[in-house]
Amino acid sequence: ASRGRVFSGIQPTGVPHLGNYLGTLESWVSLQGQYRSVVYSIVDLHSITQPQDPARLRVNILDMAASLLACGIDPERSVLFQQSQVSEHAELSWIFGCLTSMPRLRHLPQWKMKSKQKSEGSVGLYTYPVLQAADILLYKSTHVPVGEDQVQHLELAQDLARIFNNTYGDFFPEPRALLSSMRKVKSLRDPSSKMSKSDPQTMATVYLTDSPDDVSLKIRRAVTDFISEVTFDPEARPGVSNLVLLHAALAGCTVEEAVGQARGLDTGKYKQLVAEAVVQRLTPIREEIDRLRGDRGHLERVLADGADRARELAAPVLKEVRHRVGF
Ligand code: ADP
Ligand code: NA
Repeated sequence: ASRGRVFSGIQPTGVPHLGNYLGTLESWVSLQGQYRSVVYSIVDLHSITQPQDPARLRVNILDMAASLLACGIDPERSVLFQQSQVSEHAELSWIFGCLTSMPRLRHLPQWKMKSKQKSEGSVGLYTYPVLQAADILLYKSTHVPVGEDQVQHLELAQDLARIFNNTYGDFFPEPRALLSSMRKVKSLRDPSSKMSKSDPQTMATVYLTDSPDDVSLKIRRAVTDFISEVTFDPEARPGVSNLVLLHAALAGCTVEEAVGQARGLDTGKYKQLVAEAVVQRLTPIREEIDRLRGDRGHLERVLADGADRARELAAPVLKEVRHRVGF
């Protein structure tokens, strides 16, 4: 195992979808054991940067914990915890905020996207990337699995490591991006956009808890085109190509091999094959999520234990930071 430390976070937005799973969570699972330590956080402090419902948030945190465990995050091999239970995140974020200029934040994607939807955003939404930097550096993390959409936010964490080191003496490592999985799953109804929980079309997104019938129906309704043969051509045939990518991801094979397996099948038959592959992968995950959702006490114990272990890692780092700042 490499000597580095991995950190990543996911917002508690409820049960993840197939895009979250194939794009992110699968690689989270495989990173376990590859590094000295692996730290995964359910980042609920980030969830309150926009208007939110406390009862919903509470459910979503436990649903995300159940989902991560069901996908294969093993609390013995990684530190799995809820961000708000480790108050060091907020404290380091404040210190970093004092080292960040206002213009540096203005052009970051999160703020540009989400503040535009409303006429104004909260201060928390504006400084969200500073909190992300604190999340990462609080564990002196060296490697951060990120999607392309988050690369600029990681750059802020790298800047802040450098700025802190220049101001208060060499301390933080500069975290590096792990761009291992760049797999993007597309919406089943509009393959020009990515699969997302915010897609208003109910048939567009497959959730990890969808029943086999729902999965089959959604894939049967997936947008394809008038050509019945299965080929891979994301530009000209985004719908069919999305199914091929899904198939390849689930079968653990190349796109060429997936197309090879589709030879002789029309898109209708191919959809059945893809649906079966999705159902086969999701069934044990769905069953485990259902089981864990019924055992709230267990989920709370896992999170409390994870928070203890996160604090053990974070406390000495913050102690040294406080000392250097002059507290
Ligand atoms: P959503 O777009 O549904 O709101 P999030 O923004 O909460 O998803 O993303 C959570 C994680 O899942 C991120 O790491 C993101 O890169 C990844 N992710 C989200 N949608 C997809 C997708 N369609 N394909 C691959 N990865 C995705
Ligand atoms: Na999103």
